[in-house]
Amino acid sequence: MTDIRNIVILTGAGVSAESGIDTFRADGGLWEQHRIEDVATPEGFARDPDLVLRFYEMRKEQIQTKLPNPAHQALARLEAEWDGNLLLVTQNIDDLHERGGSKSVLHMHGEALLALCSACEARSPWPGVMVERPPCPSCGAAALRPDVVWFGEMPYRMDEIYAALGACDLFVSIGTSGAVYPAAGFVREAKAHGAQTLELNLERSQGSGWFDETRLGPAGEIVPEWVDQMLGGSFT
Ligand code: NAD
Ligand code: APR
Repeated sequence: MTDIRNIVILTGAGVSAESGIDTFRADGGLWEQHRIEDVATPEGFARDPDLVLRFYEMRKEQIQTKLPNPAHQALARLEAEWDGNLLLVTQNIDDLHERGGSKSVLHMHGEALLALCSACEARSPWPGVMVERPPCPSCGAAALRPDVVWFGEMPYRMDEIYAALGACDLFVSIGTSGAVYPAAGFVREAKAHGAQTLELNLERSQGSGWFDETRLGPAGEIVPEWVDQMLGGSFT
């Protein structure tokens, strides 16, 4: 086993599923309840902004009723006690990692609790009711949209993510289907730079074949077990 100091963790909807938040591609998931074209693309927003704003208003309200689960809490403990470098990248737009105790979370797909001004690009907390088109707190324009990365848009802070993938000793993917790029390609980027790779998921994902090891089970159980191993020095 190589000495592990620098870790990159990628989480997906499966980590929040343990808190009762719908995933995207499970039976009955978000993409069966809503067409991606209508609610998660710039074209959908231009076509019917009220529909999109109501969709993210609903997601924000759903998120605010949920609580972090043992997977979030275990990742926060790892952040606090790990003596190497740790980058937590999430595709999730909820704030459960933060409410579970993580201090540094890179939201590559944005955050449901933030609004982005299309006029001045300032971010601000999601205002009361977006469908009433409140003015941007910074520039006053009625040009607020969800601060969420839609299909076809570039995720946030990719340079920082690729730099960390190039320097990590261990890449861990938790609760993601490996259906959406560029996140789905992170495992290959880490492997190409010599990292060990581990997947924690309820079932095998589209990218499972790229991982050195895949452990199956609910994130609320297998993530705390893995963190205990890492902090106890018994991860091999
Ligand atoms: P992609 O080609 O990786 O799409 C993977 C899956 O997403 C497809 O199989 C399809 O199910 C769905 N999809 C993607 N684009 C779609 C579209 N325009 N209409 C309907 N379904 C679509 O995704 P992409 O288009 O290459 O976009 C990838 C970019 O979008 C990445 O930057 C990703 O981070 C971002 N993204 C963000 C969200 C979000 O809601 N935050 C959703 C998906 C993708
Ligand atoms: N514990 C662990 N993993 C779980 C659990 C659980 N309790 N429940 C579901 N999963 C796993 C599923 O096996 C699946 O691999 O979570 C994954 C959910 O996959 P998706 O619904 O595709 O969600 P995600 O991979 O996060 O989607 C990626 O696509 O639509 C976009 O922006 C959206 O960020 C999202 C991206």
